[in-house]
Amino acid sequence: MNQNELKKAVGVKSVDYFKSDSVVGLGTGSTVYYMIEELGRRYQAGDIKNIVAVTTSSRSEKQAKSLGIPTKDLNEVDHIDVTIDGADQIDKNYQGIKGGGAAHLLEKMVATNSTKNIWIVDQSKMADQLGSFPLPLEVIPFGCEKTFEDLKKENLKPEFRLDENGKRVLTHNKNYVIDLKMGTINHPHLLADWLDHQVGIVAHGLFLDIVNTIIVGYEDGPKVIDNIR
Ligand code: 5RP
Repeated sequence: MNQNELKKAVGVKSVDYFKSDSVVGLGTGSTVYYMIEELGRRYQAGDIKNIVAVTTSSRSEKQAKSLGIPTKDLNEVDHIDVTIDGADQIDKNYQGIKGGGAAHLLEKMVATNSTKNIWIVDQSKMADQLGSFPLPLEVIPFGCEKTFEDLKKENLKPEFRLDENGKRVLTHNKNYVIDLKMGTINHPHLLADWLDHQVGIVAHGLFLDIVNTIIVGYEDGPKVIDNIR
């Protein structure tokens, strides 16, 4: 199976976790694309009824709406039952890095308002330690060169994320993305705490102690890691 087939297999399997009469959270990314596609199929077939979706990007919102899935803003729901999202890297303690698609601020807000969080990944995302995937930050443009210098002084190896035209990537909220290319992250909780206290950084991509279930795509089929917390 190629990587897309592994992503599709976990995307399809994950929809088993969505139930009728619930508020569902929809993440962002190429793996989530397959999940939303399958949710749309089951919703249209009447196998899943009476749901409302809170999305984490305009991409996911557009896809959900195109399939007839009703959507609401996070402000319009009092809670989310289950959110299914992708991840960029997951370590052996099931801590994760997200934000490869620059949607980690909205993803974190949706995740922290969800009763249950499920990540769907292909096997290449599993690692002993975090950090070989660059850690994304969302930073406000005001004073961003100062923010960048502070990160550099801490030896966190910052780089502004650029698009194919060499322009700085803009997030949903018109902020910039800085990727920290540290190679390894030895103390994710200490780093997350430091980043949480830096003015100008709106969100970082360390998603710690958040996920409840992970579905990993392997050659011989999806493997579910359940009851993580
Ligand atoms: C977007 C994310 C994605 O969930 C993450 O990048 C995984 O994406 P993909 O499924 O395309 O590999 O965090 O901000």
